[in-house]
Amino acid sequence: MEVLKVHGGKTLSGTIEIGGAKNSAVALVPAALLSDRVKITNVPDISDIDALEIILNYLGAKFNKNDDEIIIESNGMENKPITLEYSKMLRASSYFMGALLGKFKHAEMYFPGGCSIGERPIDLHLSAFEKLGATVICEGDKYIIDADKLVGADINLRFASVGATINILLASVLAEGKTTIRNAALEPEVGNVIDLLNDMGAKITGKDTRTLEIEGVKELKGGNSVVIPDRIEAGTYIIAGVMNGKNLKINNIIPEHIASLLEKITEMGADIKVYDNYVIVNKVPNLKPIDITTEVYPGFPTDLQQPITPLLTSAGGTSTVTELIYENRFQNVPYLVEMGADIEINDRTITVKGPIKLQGKEVITTDLRAGAALIVAALAAEGETNIKEVKHVLRGYAGLIKKLTKVGAEISLEDV
Ligand code: EPZ
Repeated sequence: MEVLKVHGGKTLSGTIEIGGAKNSAVALVPAALLSDRVKITNVPDISDIDALEIILNYLGAKFNKNDDEIIIESNGMENKPITLEYSKMLRASSYFMGALLGKFKHAEMYFPGGCSIGERPIDLHLSAFEKLGATVICEGDKYIIDADKLVGADINLRFASVGATINILLASVLAEGKTTIRNAALEPEVGNVIDLLNDMGAKITGKDTRTLEIEGVKELKGGNSVVIPDRIEAGTYIIAGVMNGKNLKINNIIPEHIASLLEKITEMGADIKVYDNYVIVNKVPNLKPIDITTEVYPGFPTDLQQPITPLLTSAGGTSTVTELIYENRFQNVPYLVEMGADIEINDRTITVKGPIKLQGKEVITTDLRAGAALIVAALAAEGETNIKEVKHVLRGYAGLIKKLTKVGAEISLEDV
């Protein structure tokens, strides 16, 4: 079994290069199926992309990967049901619903995979497909989605769902007439997908606003996309820098994408300097407690709620974190408590008292960002921390061990 071993307390100095955003890349690859040839660059080297390669090959699409560049050619692909095994490989498998429905007017797959952080329904996706003229048959966990034709519709999202927004874009770009998405998600990943689809000849307006308008077109041509920097990877390493950094540079970022994080750590009294595409962070004493509530973008991102929790243990006083997006996203807390943290869970809110010095322990990763939280904690803890089930983390943070080792962390993956 692989265990991530971390000797904590090392100062982190130097430069961490941020890669392409996981949550963009996993949407751009299915979107590429809508035309015959798409090139995507700055693709992160993560297992979620490997999973998508398997699915595209199964569908008969060509997936040529060369370093961080992928060329996807889908003429000659066929529309096959996405199997249960493939559907469960990742949450982003749900994008094959929109892509295959948009391209072939037919899609078959099972409920998607993804971190066990809540129920994560896809009702908004399915009801939007029906508004576009599709019929959705649910047979247990299997979905069969069919349309004689797709006709533009006015869709008002009860919740600004990232996945639903992207899936509606994929299903409506080739529909007849105009589709309007109201209360659309504003996460930067959505804009990355809009840019690719428009480069392929789609007619989408309203990017970075809550109302998107999609004028259906007859066909899409080849296109190009550059994956935006991963704001969650960047935020995770910035948090580690606030706890252990000395002139730690986090490079290749878009500061605006993590404005809510920068605001919160500045409120704590962190020493962080923000430049056009990087930040420099230094550990300082006497951090102040803060209150965080996770919201849709541009609010504080739910994906950074777990990674910031260890930082709150070093603040002098009581901090709170309220998780409003997912109902089961505190699974890292019991392990932080084992490491010495003073944290109480009350329904959707945790209360974190500090300052305390975390102690290295044996801990287990339950989901991607819980694992990130345990790594952030281990980097600051006294002594050695052994992190099990670390595959959850390595699938979402490309080159994590190399990037942290390069700036002075003592971290290694060992077979035990
Ligand atoms: C994307 O998930 C991300 N995953 C998540 O990141 C991220 O936490 C989330 O967006 C919010 O930013 C990928 O992009 C692969 P949602 P998604 O639809 O699209 C409810 C990570 O750690 N909802 O915005 O699934 C749902 O239950 C992962 O990288 C419905 O009720 O997020 C959840 O409570 C974790 N019905 C909330 O909305 C629906 O039809 C957020 O879901 C869809 C969603």
